Amino acid sequence: MDDLQQLVQKLQNTRHLEKEEWAALIRGRTDILAEYVFSLTRKERHQYYGHDVYIRGLIEFTNYCKNDCYYCGIRKSNAGVMRYRLDEEQILSCCSAGYALGFRTFVLQGGEDGWFTDERMVRIVGAIKSRFPDCAVTLSIGERSKESYQALFQAGADRYLLRHETFSAAHYSLLHPSSLTAASRQKCLWTLKDIGYQVGAGFMVGAPGQTPEYLAEDLLFLEKLKPHMVGIGPFIPHHATPFAGEPAGTLEETLFLLGLIRLLLPKVLLPATTALGTIAPNGRELGILSGANVIMPNLSPANVRENYTLY
Ligand code: 5AD
Repeated sequence: MDDLQQLVQKLQNTRHLEKEEWAALIRGRTDILAEYVFSLTRKERHQYYGHDVYIRGLIEFTNYCKNDCYYCGIRKSNAGVMRYRLDEEQILSCCSAGYALGFRTFVLQGGEDGWFTDERMVRIVGAIKSRFPDCAVTLSIGERSKESYQALFQAGADRYLLRHETFSAAHYSLLHPSSLTAASRQKCLWTLKDIGYQVGAGFMVGAPGQTPEYLAEDLLFLEKLKPHMVGIGPFIPHHATPFAGEPAGTLEETLFLLGLIRLLLPKVLLPATTALGTIAPNGRELGILSGANVIMPNLSPANVRENYTLY
């Protein structure tokens, strides 16, 4: 057994690694090491979850966004996007379609769209919860005030997804304009947790400027935050963003990180994301085999999907 395999065992036994150890594992990834990790994660996942895969219905209800993240296709400077918003009835009809298919969690995801004030969001969440009382509502609508998060929680929202994107302030500022900061992002996550939401954090794999050390910091942050869900997927360059010419994250590194996260947080909900399915035709299946246990099929109306292109 080599040093890196021993580190993997240490991770499984103690659910902790030092920053340098994380970076060494990530730097030293080989197919053999990855297979070793996956042989452990499949057992871990099975121990807590059997063969269950959890299904969450994704409803992309607005692609308006006030932010200008350098990686994202729906950034406000991208004038080539046809902007749309779904109204309450359209959102409810996505939920109905999902409900009939057996979905019991709806994830409302959108850009940071000022049209969806607290009042409007509270109405929508309330309407979903009263029409589908046995369903969970997850929100993924970016950074808002504590009062706003509180109001949405009171309206019935159960969970909130907000990727931290990257823990490092220096790396964060390479991916975002200066109006957005790592500190404010992380503060939102702690606030959401405080309020009582089940929270999801996460990051892109292979984002421009990412290093094994930055990823190590992301994993240390996850250890501290202990989120219920961790969403990770490969960075995919979008043609109409400043990162158009950057290379994409790889399937192999994403799968390896899914495996490491399963070992760090054995009970975490770990989606095999759409981005993973985009870089490889069997990406999501491989994600499940690497340790993921959630799939988030798209419930958005077919005619708006082409406009919700993050990558
Ligand atoms: N490639 C991959 N993932 C992306 N996201 C945004 N843009 C891209 C891209 N070009 C991810 C971000 C965001 C989530 C909703 O989608 O991590 O949090």
